[in-house]
Parts: sequence; structure tokens; C-alpha cells
Amino acid sequence: MALFEESAIGSMNLRNRLVRSATAEGMAPDTGEVTDDLVGFYSRLARGGVGLIIGGHAHIAQEGRSSRNQVGIHHDRLILGLRKLVRACHNGGAKVVAQLTHAGSQTTSEFIGGNDPAAPSAVEDPTCHTMPREMTEEDIEAVIGQFAAAARRARDAGFDAVQLHGAHGYLLSQFLSPHSNRRTDSYGGTVENRIRFTTEVFRKVRQAVGPEYPVLIKMNAQDYFPGGTTLEDSLPLARALSDLGINGIEVSGGLGASGSLNPSRVRINHPGKEAYFLEDAREIWKAIFLEDAREIRNAVKCPIILVGGIRSLDRILEIIDEDVVDYFAMSRPLIREPDLPNNWKTGIRSNSSCISCNQCFKTLNEGGLHCVQKKKMLET
Ligand SMILES: Cc1cc2nc3c(=O)[nH]c(=O)nc-3n(C[C@H](O)[C@H](O)[C@H](O)COP(=O)(O)O)c2cc1C
Ligand code: SF4
Repeated sequence: MALFEESAIGSMNLRNRLVRSATAEGMAPDTGEVTDDLVGFYSRLARGGVGLIIGGHAHIAQEGRSSRNQVGIHHDRLILGLRKLVRACHNGGAKVVAQLTHAGSQTTSEFIGGNDPAAPSAVEDPTCHTMPREMTEEDIEAVIGQFAAAARRARDAGFDAVQLHGAHGYLLSQFLSPHSNRRTDSYGGTVENRIRFTTEVFRKVRQAVGPEYPVLIKMNAQDYFPGGTTLEDSLPLARALSDLGINGIEVSGGLGASGSLNPSRVRINHPGKEAYFLEDAREIWKAIFLEDAREIRNAVKCPIILVGGIRSLDRILEIIDEDVVDYFAMSRPLIREPDLPNNWKTGIRSNSSCISCNQCFKTLNEGGLHCVQKKKMLET
């Protein structure tokens, strides 16, 4: 396997194995439409050479919105704008995936029209400190339908695939987590029950988009939060989704409330700190490929996408040799330097200049995503 070889995820052909991990852009109006700024942003990203762009999380319902300036995919009127975003990526030679999300409790009532957030159980959200109401079975059915409708919109807008946001403490990961899911019905309690919501979402999404269309998931291997998801929960989910025919698993971890072990860890300043979810990715790979029914699973290979602190070509090349990870996803390095993939391809092997300071998060509320350090540098 080589980094700059062509490959395919299901029906989606990719020019290399570098992925832009989903990154919120903070560039949409409250109504969720794609803006010219967003189109320009994605055009720039695609021209930098990355193979696959996963769009910032797009809310599948108004009640599932998690922040100001978030892109929406909750209504057919949004399809026209989403098409422009897709075209910008395709014109730059990249494929593009819509990341579909529902925030559950990880939001505030301000972002969801003054309503109370809804979640698997009435447990205070560890990151946002909201107290949600418990979802009824009718709510669950409705949200599953909203994921499917959003996936159909993504396909109609020309996206090459969809990715379910099952990571970082949003609704899907709330159902998996024993901390936030205290239900006593068929969606709570045992791990078999806690994975049910995500597998039902996957099945409905699959029905909506058809058997050929790639459906991926980004999921937490571990929440790194007391009482939250551990490998005991995530491995059965990965195995079930692989058996159901998911087309790729992006391995992430942590929540906003996980302190230094949150999804976007700071100070990745030496090779030993890079690729901080690699061990978790190995566990997921083993669970999918090395357990019983191995031949069947190998026949329908589910690619593993690694994210989290990837900063150097050298580290990627070391990991490739292990044959566990199929794709390498980055978020912050591509905010800082969209041209990093082209640089690496043309022999400029320097490490990412992102210093992992996380100052870019605050730019989401300040006119749109950018690298604060780069801006400072350009201003001096
Ligand atoms: C500004 C910002 C916004 C992010 N938005 C999303 C998002 O919309 N969906 C998502 O799954 N992860 C999101 N993430 C997390 C990244 O995709 C990624 O998992 C994490 O930053 C670790 O990768 P990195 O070290 O390459 O940045 C975001 C990260 C940053 C810095
Ligand atoms: S502000 Fe710039 S340097 Fe800091 S984490 Fe974000 S992209 Fe990296």
C-alpha cells in the first residue's frame, strides 16, 4: 500500500490516502445554508491535494444543531447550496463526504429554537452541562428517519458518500455510552441494546441511499471519560457495523469533557505524541478482522481511517507498513496548510507546521475557521 496511490472506498475512487477529517467551518447563517465563503474554503482545500474531504458536521434536524454558524442538511431547500460545495471539491480533484450529525444533549437550547435538548436519558451533558429530556421511542424513530432523509439529500446534492458522526459525545455516541444512556428499554442497558440506535440508523440510511453508495462512520473507540464508552462497548459496535456492510470506520475518541484526552489533543510536538488513536485503531481492526468469521470479513473489507495528531509523513509511512490503517485523516494541519498533501506528494517532506494550540476553535464564532497562528505570522 502506498500513500499516493489511487484507491477506492466502495464506489468512490480516491487520488490518494489522505483525508480531511470533518471540521466545522463556522461560516453558515443560522438557517444552515452554504455560503460563498464556504464554497471558497472548500475549493482551496481541494486544490491542496487531499484525496477525500469530509465536510464539517451538518445537522440533520433543527433540534440536532450544536452550534452557531453550522451547516444544515435538514431540509430539501439546502440541497442547491450543498451542490455548489460539492462542485468546488470535485473541481479541485477531491471527493467529498457529508458528515451527518445530531447533537443530542451536547448543545444549548439557544441553538435549537429555545427547546430542551433530547438525549437517550435525562443525564446532565458532561460538556455543555445541559439537562436533556429523555427521548421517547417515537423520538428515536423520528431521528432515525431524519438521518435517512439527510443521507438521501447528501446523495442528491452529489456528495460521494456520507459519514455518520458517531464520535465526540454527540447523539450516536450518547446512546453507546453507559454514562449518558441509562435507558431500561431495548435501547439501553446491555451493550447489545446500546449499539441498537446506531445500527438502526445505519440500516435506515443504507435503505435510503442504496447498496452501492458508501456509508462511513466516525466513532469513539473510547470516551476517555469516567463511566463513558470503552473498548468493551465500541468493539461490538464496530463488529456489528462491519457485518452490516459499513464502508469505512474512522477511529477517534474523547469528548469535550475529557480534559487533555479530548479529540483534538494539544502540543503534538514530537513523533511519540502523533497518531494518538493508533492503539485504539489496532483494537478495532483486530475486532473486525481477527475474530471468528474472519474470511467473511476479509472478503468485504471495511477500511480503517485513522485520525488524531497525524503531523508527519515519516510517521504515516511507518504506520502504513503495519497494514492496519488504510487512510490517514487530518483536521488542524489542513486548516493551517491546505497544500500539505501536494507538498508531500512533490517531495517537500516537512512536518505539518500546526502547533496544535487549538486556537482555531474560537474562530468558529469569529467569522469563520482559520489558523490563528498563521494569521499572526502574516500580520507581523
Ligand atoms: C475547529 C475544529 C472543528 C472540528 N469539527 C469537527 C466536526 O465537525 N466533526 C468531527 O467529527 N470532528 C471535528 N473536529 C475534530 C477533528 O476532525 C479531529 O478529529 C481532531 O481535531 C483530531 O485530528 P487533528 O489532530 O488532525 O486535528 C474538529 C476539530 C477542529 C480543530
Ligand atoms: S490555530 Fe493553527 S496552529 Fe493552532 S491548532 Fe489551529 S491550525 Fe494548528
